[in-house]
Amino acid sequence: MSRANAISSRTPYQSHTDTRKALNNNEIQYYDMHLSHMTQQLKYGFLGKIRVAVIEAADVTPDGEIVLGSGMGGTPTFCELADIIIVERNSYLPKEIRGFHDIFEVPNPPHRREIPIYKPSDRIGSPVIKVDPKKIAGIVETHYTDGVKGFTPLDETTVKIGENVANFLASEYKLGRIPKEFLPLQSGVGNIANAVLHSLGENPDIPPFEMYTEVVQDAVIDLMKKGKCTFASTCALTLSDPLMREVFDNLDFYRDKVVIRPGELTNNPEIARRLGLITMNTALEADIFGNVNSTHVLGTKMMNGIGGSADFTRNAYISIFTCPSVAKGGKISAFVPFASHIDHSEHSVQVIITEQGVADLRGKSPIEKAETIIENCVHPDYKQLLRDYLKLAPKGCHTPHNLEAAFGFHNQFNKTGDMRDTNWDEYKKD
Ligand code: COA
Repeated sequence: MSRANAISSRTPYQSHTDTRKALNNNEIQYYDMHLSHMTQQLKYGFLGKIRVAVIEAADVTPDGEIVLGSGMGGTPTFCELADIIIVERNSYLPKEIRGFHDIFEVPNPPHRREIPIYKPSDRIGSPVIKVDPKKIAGIVETHYTDGVKGFTPLDETTVKIGENVANFLASEYKLGRIPKEFLPLQSGVGNIANAVLHSLGENPDIPPFEMYTEVVQDAVIDLMKKGKCTFASTCALTLSDPLMREVFDNLDFYRDKVVIRPGELTNNPEIARRLGLITMNTALEADIFGNVNSTHVLGTKMMNGIGGSADFTRNAYISIFTCPSVAKGGKISAFVPFASHIDHSEHSVQVIITEQGVADLRGKSPIEKAETIIENCVHPDYKQLLRDYLKLAPKGCHTPHNLEAAFGFHNQFNKTGDMRDTNWDEYKKD
């Protein structure tokens, strides 16, 4: 649809190259938002009316029961609010997937009450969406895989990041700062998140765990086969095609290990905080004071969107961000004086982990955070530059910024294509 110029505006998260190109060229107006806000803002009427909902399903019954496939997102709400529904019945999705879903609509305030999920495996709703069959305007038969690309193979950097996360959590567990039952994990999207989960599976000091997460990527399925992940509550199975096939061929193995719920439940802050989620998301860039940019490459180009990362981070038991310390062969430092866009503020970011090490920011002041990040997470090529940046701040600053130099790394990259060329001399006062 992006290629055909058929989309005028879009919300929320997306990760397709063609859509990314179109929204960065402003051919698509993209409104980025927290995934947990999406359906409630629709229900509040903030985003206009829905005339037609086009949804994918594994099965539809004559009395209006819709069995969804491997993803749910906001589909129950779209069906409720739309005037008419067009169903793509995808015969690639086995009808036997019925029973994997748990659909529960959250009433609007002032009638909202608690969502009674007290552990990831609790089921509180219906396995199907129920609509008035008269609303279904048509059923289109399809046969498509999701076409999810495989993940980048693990390399030295991603393995090291994963080991650092696993060792950090194992040490927190030993210190008794994570309860003996362990706590459910949330894991973000992309290559790094996939690699981190893989490493958790390898670490003998991490006990078997449950997940309460927005997406289940390939690594989770491997962990389930090994018995390391015992249950996952999710909003979508985002698996590469061969692995999705394997899951569909072995639904009985996964039936008591997976539940697929609407984003309004998976990403709900109330539940994240109640369950005590350990959240692990990926940063594109972070600043030395702990603010994280997950969405905007060099401050201006949208990558994917914030997704559910902030829903989880802000409400986590422990919030972790991971990333390689450098990008583009070392020309870009993931750590900069001031993040060029902020999705997660310093108040929500507790721990940052790279292949270099772990910065535990809990209980630290801005200057302490900066020292910890520079010494533990920054690539050696950038350590001295960032230490020197701190000396550029005027006296008497709680957060020692020099606002003229704050985007010095970004400006340098735009000039010479390499942040390592940064020279602070021009900002030094006599
Ligand atoms: N500046 C410029 N480019 C950067 C960069 C930086 N600071 N850091 C990374 N990149 C580039 C990488 O070089 C890579 O480019 P390529 O595709 O040309 O190779 C690309 O960004 C992706 O990086 P990668 O290391 O493969 O990351 P990933 O696949 O693990 O994805 C995010 C990382 C941040 C894009 C992804 O996790 C995301 O979209 N997060 C936001 C939403 C979210 O967290 N959701 C989870 C909650 S459910």
